[in-house]
Amino acid sequence: MPFWRQFTLALILAPIGVGMAVLIPLLLGRIVDGPIADGDAAGIAWFSLLILGAGAVDAGVNLLRRWVMTRTTSALEANVRLDLFDKLQALQLGFHKRWESGQLLSRIMTDLGLLRRFMAFGLLLLVMNTVHIVVVVSIMVGMHRALGLTVLLSVLPVVAATTHLVRRFGLVSRQVQDRTGDVASVAEESLHGVRVIRSFGRVPYSFQGFDRRSVRLRDAGVDRMRIASVLWPLLEVFPSLLLVLVLGGSAVAAANGLLTLGEVVSFVTLLLSLAWPVGSLGFLLSFMREAQTAADRVCEVFDAPITIESGERRIQDPRGAVSLRDVSFRFDDATEPTLSGLDLDIAPGETIALVGGTGSGKSTVVSLIPRLQDVTGGAVLLDGVDVRDLDLVQLRSLVATAFEDPILFSMSARENLTLGRPDATDRDIDEALRIASAGFVHDLPWGLDTRLGEQGLSLSGGQRQRLALARAILVRPKVLVLDDTLSALDIHTEAEVEAALKSALKGVTGLVVAHRASTVLLADRVAMLVAGRIAHVGTHHDLLATVPEYRELLSADYSIEPELAEEEAR
Ligand SMILES: Nc1ncnc2c1ncn2[C@@H]1O[C@H](COP(=O)(O)OP(=O)(O)O)[C@@H](O)[C@H]1O
Ligand SMILES: [Mg+2]
Repeated sequence: MPFWRQFTLALILAPIGVGMAVLIPLLLGRIVDGPIADGDAAGIAWFSLLILGAGAVDAGVNLLRRWVMTRTTSALEANVRLDLFDKLQALQLGFHKRWESGQLLSRIMTDLGLLRRFMAFGLLLLVMNTVHIVVVVSIMVGMHRALGLTVLLSVLPVVAATTHLVRRFGLVSRQVQDRTGDVASVAEESLHGVRVIRSFGRVPYSFQGFDRRSVRLRDAGVDRMRIASVLWPLLEVFPSLLLVLVLGGSAVAAANGLLTLGEVVSFVTLLLSLAWPVGSLGFLLSFMREAQTAADRVCEVFDAPITIESGERRIQDPRGAVSLRDVSFRFDDATEPTLSGLDLDIAPGETIALVGGTGSGKSTVVSLIPRLQDVTGGAVLLDGVDVRDLDLVQLRSLVATAFEDPILFSMSARENLTLGRPDATDRDIDEALRIASAGFVHDLPWGLDTRLGEQGLSLSGGQRQRLALARAILVRPKVLVLDDTLSALDIHTEAEVEAALKSALKGVTGLVVAHRASTVLLADRVAMLVAGRIAHVGTHHDLLATVPEYRELLSADYSIEPELAEEEAR
């Protein structure tokens, strides 16, 4: 990993800096005891040059170190962010339901930024300053035992106090970072749902929620600053107090002939050189705690187990037969299974309409085929192979899904359409748009290049659904899964789309969640879901004739009325 190479380079440069910082006070002592005492002008000049040289080397090394670190840590941050993004994409739906998006967002942005800044200069400064303190104190002990040990002993209580404060700082830091995530979550949610909030006149309510969380964040921030405001001055005042002590002590020692004047100068200058390393320690240690909590928060995401892992097998000649065998499914936090003992076989090329009341589990069934979630019992087979054994990339290229509430990304219409098949030509796109009756894309201000999504042109619900449909068709899947994809279409476009869909469903296996009789009529067979299992399978007319619940389910749909009357008249 190049970062560690660069970091090692910086670490090698660091002792040179420390060495120069220690060398200068020692040279000063020599100059006082030697050339200055002897009145040797040439000697003074030589020593001055030496000190100047040491200063220049120190500055040069610092410059080089900073350059090396900034360059690499930015790259490091970007890489970790990519990995994190990757991980978030790979994690199962359950993970995303459990985690608020604001918490994830604050991890991706704030925590990683903090980590980068700590890596860029905090970590190295911490190491350097600690080494500096240890080296200088050792030299001082070597020069004058009693005085040196006094310095050492007076450091100990400060270290104890610092450790205690830093630990508390760490706890509060975690709070601040978690609450930052909360605030981000609420902000994101209320911006996303701004229409709903306004239409229900709940702006003040939403404001209160945001306000409450902001106040909590502020409180934690103030707490954190309170600890820092004890810690930092303590460490800044400390060297000055020590200086008074050492000045007095060394004056006595010099008067008794235990130290030369030059040694006093060295001693005091060495002590002065500690001011910055000790003073900055408070900041650096708290910085380290913050970085630690940031790292913890990022690792929590990295450590989340991916339960949906790719299998190894590939289907050589896929036909698109789908079988659900004794499938059961229970959500993590649910007590009752949503699906149980569900069996359904769909032959290659066949279209099945899946009907059932709201909450009967239609979306859940459909999500099991491309493995958006895994069954908790039984198996889903594609061409006889358990989907869990299949290569995930192949599985998802064989199965295309369009949802009821299609998400469009902040990209051009073309990019949105080719999500599942980036190499699609304009001709393929045209074909898919035609089948999905989504020709309106060509009439957008910039055609296929029109930017959609959050920052772009907004489309109506029906338009978005037709785009999602075209997106799924474009993949040229073997299995086409439509989860209520046509719910937002008006009768006119619906008829148009359904006519086109009919040809799209030719040659692919279709599983279509439907509410309307007109959609159901597209299917070869209808499967009716009741209480988590397939209660009835048959043609539309069979079910209509023999299953009263089915008739009830569809009677909500006006378009069936004449047909119902006809059935009843028989
Ligand atoms: N993430 C979840 N956690 C727990 N229960 C859920 C979750 N998602 C859906 N359910 C429940 O599972 C049942 C089936 O939901 P769903 O498959 O969406 O029904 P449908 O699409 O037929 O309306 C519902 O009772 C719903 O409350
Ligand atoms: Mg649903």
